[in-house]
Amino acid sequence: MVDYKVNSAPLFAALDAEAADSLKASMKEYRARRGEVIFVEGEPGDTLFVIAEGKVTLGHSAKDGRESLLAVLGPGEMFGELSVFDPGNRTATATALTDVRVMGLSRDVLRNWLLARPEVSLKLFQALAQRLRRTEGAMADLVFSDVPGRIAKAILELSDKFGVVNDEGLFVPHDLTQEELAQLVGASRETVNKALAEFASRGWLKVEQRSVTILDLERLRRRAA
Ligand code: CMP
Repeated sequence: MVDYKVNSAPLFAALDAEAADSLKASMKEYRARRGEVIFVEGEPGDTLFVIAEGKVTLGHSAKDGRESLLAVLGPGEMFGELSVFDPGNRTATATALTDVRVMGLSRDVLRNWLLARPEVSLKLFQALAQRLRRTEGAMADLVFSDVPGRIAKAILELSDKFGVVNDEGLFVPHDLTQEELAQLVGASRETVNKALAEFASRGWLKVEQRSVTILDLERLRRRAA
């Protein structure tokens, strides 16, 4: 199978087809079933992963037991790079949100690749910088945006990654439960349900089991701003 999305991953983006194939040959493929934990926050890690198929959540447990979701990633995106570049413990727990196929690259192999190909490092810096920007933005939203604004933004981000245009609008199969959606925006399930019901009653979207269909992208964008 040709992994188009994998080829666009930051790790491969600066490489020609031959080099990308050679790098892929030094990666190890892992599969996980929906709900399976790939690694746990706090354990030492020396492998970076690129998603070939499926979705992965990165979650954090607070000391009081509350769970939050830091990100939902899909094909072509990477995770686990922090403890590879800065040897230490995993900063989040990675869980398969759907059945997934991921490609793992160990620190030693990556190091040799980066020393030989500085252009790959630049792409990885870019990916890290984008992630940092996103995290900064999410922190500001927690302070300055209300829950409906945050949920509108989260749905738009999920639609960028997973949205498919159909007859009705933009179908977004995010695979998250309402509880997980709430964990992603840092709010209670009740508040998130209320915001979604409000959007639905205005005709902006349709809420389905583990998916939404965006019916009025413009209005949703305005609410997220
Ligand atoms: P690592 O610390 O090795 O393992 C957990 C991974 O979760 C981490 O590397 C990053 O790849 C990812 N991660 C941690 N925090 C965030 C975040 N705020 N947004 C997206 N991904 C994150």
